[in-house]
Amino acid sequence: MANSLLERDARVLAGIGKLRTYPLTIRNARGNRLIEEDGREVLDMSGAAGAALLGYGHPAVIEAARRGLTECAGASDMFGASESAVALAERLLSIVPEATDHKVWLGHSGSDANDTAMRAIAAATGRRRFLSFYGAYHGGVSGSMSVSSHPSQRHTLPRAGLAQIPYANPYRPVSGGDAAQAVFDYLEFLFACGCPPDDIGAVFIEPLQSDGGMLVPPQGFLKELAERCRKHGILVVSDEVKVGLGRPGQWHCYQAEGFTPDVVTFGKGLGGGVPVSAIVAPRGVMDFQEAFALITTTGNAVCASVALAVLDTVERDGLIANAAARGRQIVEGLRALQDRHGLIGDVRGRGLAVGFELVRDRETKEPATVEAAKVVLRGYQLGVAFTYVGMFSNVPELTPPLTLSESEADEALAAIGQALSDVENGLVSDDDVARFAGW
Ligand SMILES: Cc1ncc(COP(=O)(O)O)c(C=O)c1O
Repeated sequence: MANSLLERDARVLAGIGKLRTYPLTIRNARGNRLIEEDGREVLDMSGAAGAALLGYGHPAVIEAARRGLTECAGASDMFGASESAVALAERLLSIVPEATDHKVWLGHSGSDANDTAMRAIAAATGRRRFLSFYGAYHGGVSGSMSVSSHPSQRHTLPRAGLAQIPYANPYRPVSGGDAAQAVFDYLEFLFACGCPPDDIGAVFIEPLQSDGGMLVPPQGFLKELAERCRKHGILVVSDEVKVGLGRPGQWHCYQAEGFTPDVVTFGKGLGGGVPVSAIVAPRGVMDFQEAFALITTTGNAVCASVALAVLDTVERDGLIANAAARGRQIVEGLRALQDRHGLIGDVRGRGLAVGFELVRDRETKEPATVEAAKVVLRGYQLGVAFTYVGMFSNVPELTPPLTLSESEADEALAAIGQALSDVENGLVSDDDVARFAGW
C-alpha cells in the first residue's frame, strides 16, 4: 500500500516509530481491543502503557468528556474555580489516607507531575539534592527526566546533585547477597561520605519499578528506606503514575509496600485516555510559592470530569478486586508457562502490573534481549499487544486495562505460550525484529 498509515506516520511523526516493538496501526478501539487499519482486532495487554485504565470507549469516559466539553471547554483552574477541577481534587484527597493537610496540583502527564513535584519540593525545603533509583523512569521532560536514570534517557544527564541507589531486586541482587541490605549499606555509605542527607529534599520512589524491569522489591524494603530517609527530613515521593490507582489490587501501590509517602503523583490511568495528572502533597510544599508550574489548560473541565469518572468507575465496578484476581490468574498462568519454557527466568508483579523476565540460561541469568523482542513481536502477530521493559530490555510487561475479563486473561496467556514456543522453534528471525529499535 503506497500510502499506508505506517508509511505516512514514518514520514511526518518524529522520534516515536523507532521505539515501537511491532507495526501496530490503530483505526479505533473498543473494550480492551485495538482495531487495526485493516480491521484486525488485537487484545491490548499493555493498556496503552497503563493509560487505558478502563479500556477504550468506556461509556463513563465518553459521557464525562461530553459533559466537560459542554461545561466550559478550554477554561481551566488558572482562570476560575470550576466544579469539575475542585471535585476531582476533593476526590483525590479522599482516596489518599495520608492526605491530612494536603493540596492537589493538576497537570497533564506523569512527566509534568513529577517535574512539578521536584521543583516545588526544592523551593519549599531549600534542599537542592534528590535521591532516586538506578533504572527509574519518572518522566520525559527535563525535570522529571533529570531524577530518572532509565537506559532510554542516556542522551540527557541527571540533574546536578542527584544521588542514586540500586533498586532492591531479589532476582538480581547487586552484590549477590541480601538484596535489600546491600542497598541500605550503600545508602548509609552515601549519606556518610557522598551526599549529606540534610541536603536532600526528597526520595523519588516507584513502588514497583516498572520500566526498570517490573521489579517487585522485597517485602518491607521500601518501608525501611522511607524510614531511613525521613529521619533526615527527606520527603518521600511515591510515583504511582504507572502502577497505582487500583492496578496493584489496592488503590495505591505504596499501600501494598507498606510505606507512607509525603507526596503522591498520579498520571496515565487517571485520565483513562485523556491527558491528566496530579500531585497530592503537603500544603506547605504546594502553597510555598505561586506559579511554580503554570500550564494554561490544567484542570480543564474535560480532563477533570473524565478523571473523576475514572475514579468513580474503578470504585463502583469493583475494578480493584478485579485487578487483584486477574493479576493472580496471569501470574499463575505465567508460572505454569515457566515450567514448560526455559526462557522464562522469573515471573513477578502486583495485580495487573506483571512482568516475566527472559533469560538464555537460568543459572547464569544471561538476559534474553533479542528473544524478548521476538516474543513481543510474535505475540502481536498472534493478536495480543504488549511490550518489554528492563535494564536489559528482556522483561515482557503486562499492564492491561483493569476491565480485563477472565477469558481475555486466558486468551492472552494462550497467545504468550504460543509466542514462546514459536520463538523457541525459530519462527521469528533476527531480521524480523531488527526493524524495531525498541527501548
Ligand atoms: C513511573 C512513571 N512515572 C512517570 C511516567 C511519565 O508519564 P508520562 O509519560 O505519561 O508523562 C512514566 C511513564 O512511563 C512512568 O512509568
